[in-house]
Parts: sequence; structure tokens; C-alpha cells
Amino acid sequence: MEFPCSDCCSISELVLKAASLIPISHYLLGIWIISFICCYNFLEIHIISDFFNGFRGNPVSLTFNSSSQIYQNVVSKCSILHGRYLVTPWLASPHLQTSFLNFLGRPPKFTYKRQLFLTPDSGTIAFDWLMPSEVTRSFSHRSNAISKEDTTPIVVVIPGLMSDSDSPYIKHLAFDIARSGWNVVVSNHRGLGGVSLTSDWFYNAGWTEDVRVVVDYLHREYPKAPLFAVGTSIGANVLVKYLGEEGDNTHLAGAAAICSPWDLLVCDRFINRRLVQRFYGRAITIGLQIYARTHKSIYSRLVDWEGIQKSRSVRDFDKNATCILGKYETADTYYRNCSSAGYVKNVAVPLLCISALDDPVCTREAIPWDECRANKNIVLATTPHGGHLAFFEGITAHCLWWVRAVDEFFGILHSTPFMHKRKEVCLFRLPANWFII
Ligand SMILES: *[C@@H]1O[C@H](CO)[C@@H](O)[C@H](O)[C@H]1NC(C)=O
Ligand SMILES: *[C@@H]1O[C@H](CO)[C@@H](O)[C@H](O)[C@H]1NC(C)=O
Ligand SMILES: *[C@@H]1O[C@H](CO)[C@@H](O)[C@H](O)[C@H]1NC(C)=O
Repeated sequence: MEFPCSDCCSISELVLKAASLIPISHYLLGIWIISFICCYNFLEIHIISDFFNGFRGNPVSLTFNSSSQIYQNVVSKCSILHGRYLVTPWLASPHLQTSFLNFLGRPPKFTYKRQLFLTPDSGTIAFDWLMPSEVTRSFSHRSNAISKEDTTPIVVVIPGLMSDSDSPYIKHLAFDIARSGWNVVVSNHRGLGGVSLTSDWFYNAGWTEDVRVVVDYLHREYPKAPLFAVGTSIGANVLVKYLGEEGDNTHLAGAAAICSPWDLLVCDRFINRRLVQRFYGRAITIGLQIYARTHKSIYSRLVDWEGIQKSRSVRDFDKNATCILGKYETADTYYRNCSSAGYVKNVAVPLLCISALDDPVCTREAIPWDECRANKNIVLATTPHGGHLAFFEGITAHCLWWVRAVDEFFGILHSTPFMHKRKEVCLFRLPANWFII
């Protein structure tokens, strides 16, 4: 039997004919919707769920040991850590937040005071100081130099990879802390902050010696001032590793680790996995190459200059530079050796860790949940959103949530003297109605 069809003979012709009857505007609309969905998913935008959430943000999740004194005496009083965090609505994506932070960042305006510090191996570290008198009128009665007897706390800031005191997020942090009346010193990594490398050594993700000499120096110079430290990204990894190595011996009274990579091996695998992560990998590699080019005379003498130029990934760069200088056999050996996760158990001072679960660089997969729960000195705060070091909030994206949280944590920790490691600072403060005859 035959179909009574003369001019339309094949199915494909039929389909084409039908397709040609659909107006072009419907196709355009379809393409637009599909690209929108792809873009929405690719950039991990969450404005729609924020909307259905009533723009109330998400609660902060706190992980700690149930018998933790740090939680009971300090963190339980931190209202910011017990509140919710809402992302700036027009930055509702970890990638938008992280890019905005790195390209614009809306940093506050002020100038630091520079001090050059020489390490025992004749390396140069640029200290950038910010004092309360620089940012608020109400502190103007204070002199610009810190005296030996000064009891104002000092916060040491250890920036992330290729960041220095001028990075927007560091400026946000320094400004906020100085405004609350404390002194801040950004300890720029060697060769950053506009200074040359003066020794045959550059910093790496596990190099804690510089933090050690800086903290010891500050303690010698200002023995009455409680010392606190904030590390961000790679700086957080270095800080936690240092705290683990030192245990009880550090002069720090408390610390905060923001968006730490925790496990460099896991993070290396992560940034090479998906297309969007590989963008970050490329950006970091280019940053490292610029750093190497700035210090070309040293790099070309000590490590594989050709290889650095050709590096396409952080791993290539590490193989050609970091591993050679640090005498690590392979990149993986370096990553394993320098990861801070293994040092978490030995941290002996109050430590607040903050990470965003959507961090596009330092993945949530590397967060050492169990280790944080096992150590009574640590409280880990995580939020579903925030990106890498961004955590913008407010409709004008004028402040960073983690900066406020750290500021409040240090303030409450400092006013709870018995929680300090350095008890000698506050132990003899007697109740006001006592007097000594
Ligand atoms: C240096 O990096 C290149 C890629 O840019 C890589 O092929 C090479 O193996 C690296 N050199 C060493 C010594 O690992
Ligand atoms: C890391 O490397 C240092 C020196 O290169 C070495 O002394 C140390 O034992 C290593 N640690 C681990 C955990 O591999
Ligand atoms: C809490 O700390 C105690 C003692 O340090 C430890 O025995 C316990 O396992 C910790 N709890 C968790 C959930 O790790």
C-alpha cells in the first residue's frame, strides 16, 4: 500500500517544512532562554534562590568541639557569626564576587606607614602599618609611633598569593581594624609590596619562617601589646601551619584563617578540573609569572627561567620554580608537605576559620571538618556563598562580611582575657574595687 502523498516524500523534508513555519522570533527567544540558563549555571548565579529566600541570606554554620571553651566564652557572643550572610544582590555568584573583588573591590582610601624589616637570611619584608589615628579623628590624640609600653593590640596580616597591602580586601581589613582602635601591620611577602628580593629565597605556600621571625620581632618590640594575626588564602595556610608547628610557643593571642586552601593537593586537582576553575588557574599562573619577571635576575639564576615563561598552570610554575628552590622532588610532594590541614590538630591558640562553600579556588572539598571538630581551640564558620575572600554585602557592596566577623571575634576574644594564650598580659587585672596596700 502507498501513502497518498505526492510532493512530500521523506520525513526529514516534512520536519524541515514544519520548522520553517515557526516564526524566527520564537527561535531567538529559545536561544536566549538556553543561553541564559547556561550562563546562570556556569556562573553559579543564585539570585533566584535568594529571591525565594526573601533576600534574608543564609545562616552561618559553625563547626566546633561540643566542649570548646572558645565557643562557649567567645564565639557564642559574636552576633555576626550567629547571624545570616546575604550576598550583595547584583553580585549573587561566587565568580562575580571574586572578579569584582580583584578588579574593583571598592577599597577604602588611606595611606600606610612603611617599615622595612630584614630577616636573618637578609631577606626584606615590607611592613605596612596602619594606626587608628590615620583613619579616625577620635584617636588623633595618639602619637604616630607605638611606644614600648603600649597595650593596644596589634593585628598582623598575612596576605594571600601575590596579594600585598594594596589589595582591596587587605585594605578593607586594615581599615576596619584600625577604625576599631587597634594597630595593624600588613606583613607583605618577600618581593611583594614594591620591594626587591634581597636574598636567594622567595616565599611559598608552606614557608612559615617569615611569620615566625615577624611575630617574634613584634613581641620583642611591643611586649605589652597582645598580638593577633589574620591570614588570607595562602596566607591562611601559612598561618595555620605556623600555629601547628609552634603549638603553645607562639606569642599570638588569637588568629583568624580566611578562605584557606587547607589541602594544596586537593585544591590543585580542583582548579584543573572544570573549565571555569581553569580560568582561575590561568589567572594565578599569569600572576606568578609577573612576580617572577619582576625578580628576573634572581629567578633566572636559581630556577628554570625558560620553564617559568612556558608554564601554563600553577603546577608547571611550581615544578619549574618552587620545587627547585624548595628542594621538593615533585609538585605533589610540595603540596603534601605544605598543606596546613595536617597541622590543625596542634593549634593551641583561639583560631577562627572562615570559608565559603562556593569558593571557586579554595574548594570546600579540602576543608578539614573533623580536625576542626577535634581541636577545642578552633571554630570553623562556613557560609553557602561568599566566593574567594569576597563576601560582599550591602546594596553598594561597600563592606566584606568576613572582615566584620573577624573584627568582632578579636574584640570579644580580647575582652575575655582568660581565653588568651598570653595570660601574662592581662592576668593581673584586678576587679575595680580592689586595691593593693
Ligand atoms: C616546566 O614547565 C613545563 C611546562 O611549561 C613542563 O613541561 C616541564 O616539565 C617543567 N619543568 C620541570 C623541571 O618540571
Ligand atoms: C617537609 O619538608 C621539610 C623540609 O623540606 C622536611 O623537613 C619535613 O619533614 C617535610 N614534612 C613532611 C610532612 O613531609
Ligand atoms: C572533642 O574534644 C575531645 C577532647 O579533646 C575529644 O575527645 C572529642 O573526640 C572531640 N569531639 C569531636 C566530635 O571530635
